[in-house]
Amino acid sequence: MRNFNEHNITDAVLARLEASGSPRVHEISAALVRHLHAFVREVRPSQDEWQQAITFLTRTGQICSDTRQEFILLSDALGVSMLVDAINHALPGGATETTVLGPFYVADAPEVSSGQTIGKPEDGPAMLIEGRVLDTAGKPIADAIVDIWHADADGYYDVQKDAQSYSGRGRVRTDAQGNFWLWGSVPAAYPIPDDGPVGEMLGLQGRHPYRPAHVHFMIAAEGCETLVTHLFLASSDYLDSDVVFGVKDSLIEPVIEVGPGKTPYGADVEMTVPAMRREFVLAPVRQQRE
Ligand code: BEZ
Ligand code: FE
Repeated sequence: MRNFNEHNITDAVLARLEASGSPRVHEISAALVRHLHAFVREVRPSQDEWQQAITFLTRTGQICSDTRQEFILLSDALGVSMLVDAINHALPGGATETTVLGPFYVADAPEVSSGQTIGKPEDGPAMLIEGRVLDTAGKPIADAIVDIWHADADGYYDVQKDAQSYSGRGRVRTDAQGNFWLWGSVPAAYPIPDDGPVGEMLGLQGRHPYRPAHVHFMIAAEGCETLVTHLFLASSDYLDSDVVFGVKDSLIEPVIEVGPGKTPYGADVEMTVPAMRREFVLAPVRQQRE
């Protein structure tokens, strides 16, 4: 076939995909072509605008490094990460809701025991982070691995300040009652890295780059779906305008005052301190997708 024009090119490209090796590759490629062509038909970009789009994507790739993933930021800021999360986490009733992982997770965070401090004094006022991990039947899960990471009182993660020296992050195991407790610090709201193409896009769209203050959790236990979520501080700004659309009502917690004395999760507190606490419920592992 030759002589393609605005009216016949989409069908011609779709026909070329018929030889795809796998049905899933065909499904994804055909949907991509249909939606991309529909987008171009709707927007009718000038040649100059199309070149700007290519340059934007090129710069998005060029700014990526081992410590910066601008494509994830783009997916986050366009709400695509949360859409993928929603499609993949239709959880059973009672299971704790999920939200975005974000770019500041570190796979080899320091292993700590309950009661240890994961923050540095300069990170800001200390905050107890405690809770319990349960299954959907309400049974405590022992030996679950609870990965915790949060920004400091200035809104920076350790890896943004010094990739070699961790603070505000740690990995703790639940005890026989499913409990864990650590000393972190009160995190602040912060802007996502906005000195690159995604920041420019937000500026052009008239949007701010901020996320509300939150603590990240990734909780893994045998026989359960790994839970990736945050707890958002109820007192934070931006709960209704999170730049990455990650806030859910069920994930908002007040910072409470606890102590002195023993808390229900086993922490021994000498004086009254700020605390964030939560009982997390993990969903059972799902059957493999057909
Ligand atoms: C975060 O919460 O760490 C985060 C999530 C998405 C984009 C940027 C940061
Ligand atoms: Fe974060």
